Amino acid sequence: MTLLRLLVFCTLAACCVVARSPPGCNSSEVLAVAGFALQNINRDQKDGYMLSLSRVHDAWEHYQEDMGSLFYLTLDVLETGCHVLSKKPQKECGPRTLHESVYGQCKAMFHINKPRRVLYLLAYNCTLRPVSQRKIHSMCPDCPGPFDLSNPRVLEAATESLAKFNSENPSKQYSLVKVTRATGQWVFGPAYFVDYLIKESPCTESQASCSLQPSDLPVGICHGSLVQQPALVQKKSASVTCEFFKSQAQVPGGDNPAATQESKKVPMHPSKTAPRGSVQHLPDLDVEKPEDSKENNPVEAFPVQLDLTTNPQGDTLDVSFLYLGPEEKKLVVLPFPGKDRHSTECPGPAEETNPLILPP
Ligand SMILES: *[C@@H]1O[C@H](CO)[C@@H](O)[C@H](O)[C@H]1NC(C)=O
Ligand SMILES: *[C@@H]1O[C@H](CO)[C@@H](O)[C@H](O)[C@H]1NC(C)=O
Repeated sequence: MTLLRLLVFCTLAACCVVARSPPGCNSSEVLAVAGFALQNINRDQKDGYMLSLSRVHDAWEHYQEDMGSLFYLTLDVLETGCHVLSKKPQKECGPRTLHESVYGQCKAMFHINKPRRVLYLLAYNCTLRPVSQRKIHSMCPDCPGPFDLSNPRVLEAATESLAKFNSENPSKQYSLVKVTRATGQWVFGPAYFVDYLIKESPCTESQASCSLQPSDLPVGICHGSLVQQPALVQKKSASVTCEFFKSQAQVPGGDNPAATQESKKVPMHPSKTAPRGSVQHLPDLDVEKPEDSKENNPVEAFPVQLDLTTNPQGDTLDVSFLYLGPEEKKLVVLPFPGKDRHSTECPGPAEETNPLILPP
């Protein structure tokens, strides 16, 4: 009896804790899974900019018989210039230039079952920070630096550049939803650069053929600037370019046959479609951690928490909704592997090797 119990225990332990092959952070399989995970994280966002992969920091695979694998990924990421609402393909979205970089780390749990064609992001969490302005300015004193979005000059820059856009395109008018990013620089005078979302303005009575429903949905993003020229007193010059998002099926279900079919293929529980994580923005590491207080009060550079369980033996998670069959499908989920253990060949090679934008 004791022997049997011991055997059962060993089998469990072998299944749940030991059989976790570290696949290597530069393997094509891990890179593919990391790509899927990041794509899903980007799709899950309603706000902010898309992320691109800088490198795979750590990766564990937990193979589960009949179920495929559950990957525990730690990804070093960079913010791109593409707003998530633009839904642009990842390959069109490069990272920002060094002095405007926003970088950080995501943890993700990704379930993959190749024979059953299941790819599913179970959960994720990301933490981002802007690149150290102190270090950037020591290399490039004239580079533009980030501005607080609540700065009145930022709002002024957005308003004035949008007024310019509206005056050049009088057939349709747009109004400001919100500013998403702002930087400032001294050119001939102070210069402000802003990104902001726009929506369609309600119709005016003079617009005879106007059939717009008032809506707060952003329809595009503008990149504007406002430069003050001191030589010409009071003279400001604004510039603006706007890009419009591809129209998305905004009516859920109903009108779009493709979408309806899609949702039939994978019947989702409402609770399962809720956001499975979040992207957290923290301030510049130097602002939060002044040089002299480093030793006394160490701050974790990129704290990312991702635990669906604290049970070291793991818990089972019902993922039957991902499978078409009637049978119950359960995944074993373990606590996220700690920072103290790196899997072999990790971290992988970085896309951008500058240490200023690589999490430690
Ligand atoms: C990563 O993999 C690629 C392609 O397989 C290879 O060319 C490259 O040398 C590898 N890099 C490292 C650091 O192992
Ligand atoms: C993700 O992060 C948030 C806040 O940092 C935390 O409250 C939440 O528990 C995390 N999610 C998981 C699944 O650990």
